[in-house]
Amino acid sequence: MAPKVLVSDKLSETAVQIFRDRGIDVDFMPEVGKDKEKLQEIIGQYDGLAIRSATKVTAKLLEAADNLKVVGRAGIGVDNVDRDAASKKGVIVMNTPFGNSITTAEHAIAMMFAVARQIPEASASTQAGKWEKSRFMGVELTGKTLGVIGAGNIGSIVCDRARGLRMKVVAYDPFLSQERADKMGVEKVELDELLGRADFITLHVPLTDQTENILSRENLEKTKKGVRIINCARGGLVDEQALADLIEAGHVGSAGIDVFAEEPATENPLFGLPNVVCTPHLGAATSEAQENVALQVAEQMSDYLLTGA
Ligand code: MLT
Repeated sequence: MAPKVLVSDKLSETAVQIFRDRGIDVDFMPEVGKDKEKLQEIIGQYDGLAIRSATKVTAKLLEAADNLKVVGRAGIGVDNVDRDAASKKGVIVMNTPFGNSITTAEHAIAMMFAVARQIPEASASTQAGKWEKSRFMGVELTGKTLGVIGAGNIGSIVCDRARGLRMKVVAYDPFLSQERADKMGVEKVELDELLGRADFITLHVPLTDQTENILSRENLEKTKKGVRIINCARGGLVDEQALADLIEAGHVGSAGIDVFAEEPATENPLFGLPNVVCTPHLGAATSEAQENVALQVAEQMSDYLLTGA
């Protein structure tokens, strides 16, 4: 009998086509991920579950998942999967670490421009019929120092694009070798040095016990006055209240924030502050990236379900 896969989030239909082409019996139910009870009721029928971020794969859901062999996350972070519970049950958890890297790196660069030139505020003001030319004095990126925290798949693309913009790039990443840093044309530094030198700081690390609150109040206070903070990685990396306080106090110049400690974010200490640009976790939201991750997750899951590889 053909393995059965449930797609429970809004994945590109490319994934569905690939599952079908590979002979897998697939149900595309992109709304069911948000309906915990329904998902709990039907999960027992499936060998594979393909998700984005709305579906929460909890220990309780896994208890009912009697036939489940693999969960595939079309994206990088697997924060919405209880990996301990999955591994106890022998369920493999896969992600697609490369498919949306360029898109996320581009969002971080877009955020840098948005905060440097106050583009969202200038657009709102212009469309409101004001012509506030003197209100919106920006800064150039050229010649500024960018501090990149995390120089992996996404961070290294940000470094490359920033160097193209003629920024000086300093990177903090315990896994970055000196040789690789030299090849990338970036200066490898410790975190405190990065905090003290950067005009812009951008985060590109997963949320782990080691990185949680890496931009704590104490660390934010070590930054240069006027620093601009960009976070397109994970919400829990930054102390949001401390960031809001330091923006209000005039120490942090501005922030471009795509990810929040609580998502969906409907309230947040950063909302409504001047010089803060927020987007609703759009880091991976391009048609190209969504095609890539859907294709990759479907190929990987099919390989595993059909051949065990
Ligand atoms: C990811 O983990 O791939 C990104 O944060 C994008 C997303 O969650 O959609």
